[in-house]
Amino acid sequence: MKKVTKAVIPVAGMGTRFLPITKSVAKEMLPIVDKPTLSYIIDEAVASGITDILLITSPYKKIIEDYFDVNYELEKRMEERGKIEELEILGNIKGNVNIYFIRQGEPLGSGHAIRLAKTFVGNDPFAVLYGDDIMKSDVPALKQLIDTYEKNNANIIGCMEVDKNLVSRYGIVSFADESTNKIKTIVEKPKQEEAPSNIAGLGRYIVKPEIFDILEKISKGACGEYQFTDAMKELMKEQDFYACIMDATYYDTGSKLGYLKATLDYALERDDLKEPLKEYLKERIEK
Ligand code: UTP
Repeated sequence: MKKVTKAVIPVAGMGTRFLPITKSVAKEMLPIVDKPTLSYIIDEAVASGITDILLITSPYKKIIEDYFDVNYELEKRMEERGKIEELEILGNIKGNVNIYFIRQGEPLGSGHAIRLAKTFVGNDPFAVLYGDDIMKSDVPALKQLIDTYEKNNANIIGCMEVDKNLVSRYGIVSFADESTNKIKTIVEKPKQEEAPSNIAGLGRYIVKPEIFDILEKISKGACGEYQFTDAMKELMKEQDFYACIMDATYYDTGSKLGYLKATLDYALERDDLKEPLKEYLKERIEK
């Protein structure tokens, strides 16, 4: 079985749920404390054994390419001023991984974006991580998917249980066999009374390369966009899919509330911020 070492992260979406800031700042670059959201996702991929990452970016998101590039002028100035700690922070941004970029000319949906990874992926199984979904966990969420992939040698969808009232926001999985988590199909944003379960697919996938033949053929789906879920649904007719129930806390940082929750939770884990922030929160709540 081929090892999963490549990951695709689509980051070219319009971020309409986070306007107006997303008019000029990519939502994937909004800071969670002092690192961009995207950085947390890349760290998770690297900690899961990924060595090569393709970022599908957009003409309006040059800020992402710049962030992972070397800023010689800034580094030189830090060096001249003896700012060793700051230099180290700058040197660690990219970490030990190869990062490549390709641009999606128009935001025509996740399926359209991922299709652009065909040459990068070649004949290998690969991971997809959505650029605005942070998973906080002890064992990296993608590592949990890779373990499930190695057990089943099949396509994997990272899933979590969601509130029954909220199923209409997600792709909801229906099981062929609940004892093994084998998936029958996935229903995009079902009404609560029509949902086959309350297990949702949440921004982490391992897919075999045959998905590209389908991505080239699918029509526009929900929201008038080419949906990655629709391509997976087609592939389910030919290949096995399993759910990996992720042991993680999920933050949808593409939504304002999800972003605030992530910021607070990560700040509350930081030695330099934990105590003063707790005190401030106590003060605010008691007011
Ligand atoms: P989302 O549906 O969360 O992103 O896609 P969006 O379209 O920006 O969201 P709205 O406008 O707030 O509803 C999941 C991931 O896929 C990327 C997004 O950047 C996000 O990381 N994406 C989405 C693309 O790369 N291209 C697209 O055309 C759409």
